[in-house]
Amino acid sequence: MKVLVATEKPFAPVAVEGIRKEIEGAGNELVLLEKYTDVAQLLAAVKDADALIVRSDKVTPAVLDAAANLKIVVRAGAGYDNIDTEYAKGKGVVVENTPGQNSNAVAELVFGLLVYAVRNFYNGKAGTELKGKKLGILAFGNVGRNVARIAKGFGMDVYAYDAFCPKDVIEESGVHAVGSQDDLFKECDIVSLHIPATAETRQSINYALVGQMKKGGIVINTARKEVVNEPELLKLMSEREDLKYITDIKPDADADFAKFEGRYFSTPKKMGAQTAEANINAGIAAAKQINAYFNEGCTKFQVNK
Ligand code: 3PG
Repeated sequence: MKVLVATEKPFAPVAVEGIRKEIEGAGNELVLLEKYTDVAQLLAAVKDADALIVRSDKVTPAVLDAAANLKIVVRAGAGYDNIDTEYAKGKGVVVENTPGQNSNAVAELVFGLLVYAVRNFYNGKAGTELKGKKLGILAFGNVGRNVARIAKGFGMDVYAYDAFCPKDVIEESGVHAVGSQDDLFKECDIVSLHIPATAETRQSINYALVGQMKKGGIVINTARKEVVNEPELLKLMSEREDLKYITDIKPDADADFAKFEGRYFSTPKKMGAQTAEANINAGIAAAKQINAYFNEGCTKFQVNK
């Protein structure tokens, strides 16, 4: 079987070697398409692939149509909003993700960005500390739980809301469970977003929600840009000079946000999962899942059943 790894943002070389070992060790062939700049390169590369490993690379109907032999796509990572899962289902293509494999990396970046933000982007002026501040975690999945663990080390008071996770599960982790998104934004000094981009969450971080934050509130986004209503957040930030927006996913309106000097920061490219460890974990998990699918018909991580 031919397994194509198509990554516009490549894995660390050590992760690629691990993937190769898994794929070739199972008697399959590995083909690499890294740092491609044009979708035509992906369309050509996918033509004779039986399996595909991607990161945030877009797997559109055009890609799926070009891949006549494709049987399985594994998103090496958590969020699969980049894959047309329904279209894949219609073509009988299994789509899987590798939940939890890169979550610690994303959670650690939250704190790298937060310290940078509360210390005024290291401009030499007195900032504030994280200890004692109320941190709100929006969605208590793999990343949210790692964020909670690290936040406790900083001495933060940790709150969470998750529409799908029972309150007692949140509270068992020593985190205060609040009853709604609104309560989380009202209660907390900092809110960290960990919701996936779905029909329900797109544009949900809006003027009314964020506007409830206390003076000096910070929103940190290591999830998806699509969950933020950018025009409404821009309007709010122009009215409230105390609010900060820190993101690992460059907004479409990056230039407009950048006008809020000292209150906005975006990484140049999504960096949350960009560690050797996360690349190894997610990449090798993807390779193993492909082998398990071909060898045993295993579809444990299928997201388009
Ligand atoms: C994920 O959904 O797993 C993260 O957002 C990481 O995405 P990336 O593989 O594009 O860095």
